[in-house]
Amino acid sequence: MAEHSKKACSCKGKAKKNCTINRRQFLFASGATAFTVMVTVRSGKGHAEQVPALVSTYPRKHIGKLSEMHQDVPVEFSYPDEGDYSTSILVKTGVECGGGVGQQRDLVAFNMTCTHQGGDMYESYKPEHKVLGPCPLHLSTYDLTRHGILVSGQAYQSLPQVLLELDGDDIYAVGMFGLIYGRYDNLAS
Ligand code: FES
Repeated sequence: MAEHSKKACSCKGKAKKNCTINRRQFLFASGATAFTVMVTVRSGKGHAEQVPALVSTYPRKHIGKLSEMHQDVPVEFSYPDEGDYSTSILVKTGVECGGGVGQQRDLVAFNMTCTHQGGDMYESYKPEHKVLGPCPLHLSTYDLTRHGILVSGQAYQSLPQVLLELDGDDIYAVGMFGLIYGRYDNLAS
């Protein structure tokens, strides 16, 4: 667990001993990164003053090796944390995809929770059409070659796409495009 931060915490005396982990420490512990910037705000008396604001960013997470990927065999991972609705798949589709990485730009990753009402699309990848779905609840189906756009069913939002980075043979998840079902902020599970 991260050490108690005197700077970040305003607890005093005995209360300090009972201080629980703060948001900054939580973000580091969960793999997300955070840093502080100074922003200018107006006080109630109209004076401008500088206050610290915490900015969090997506973690860079190693999720696999290119040499170990087989076409149309998805690999599961969690991103951006291990919290609710974070299960995602990494798949080498064999065809060029929007946001794909690799020589053929055919390696993509998506969150696996349906954006409609949170249906779990576990093992629903269809290699013949490069889609995820149909969702077991109301049949939404998403095209993995076109940024997870909805192709049929009840949902009205695309599937969140995990942004990838390739460093030699190593595949990293580095961000997300789209909001994960059930969250108001992808970095707050
Ligand atoms: S929850 Fe997936 S289509 Fe409704």
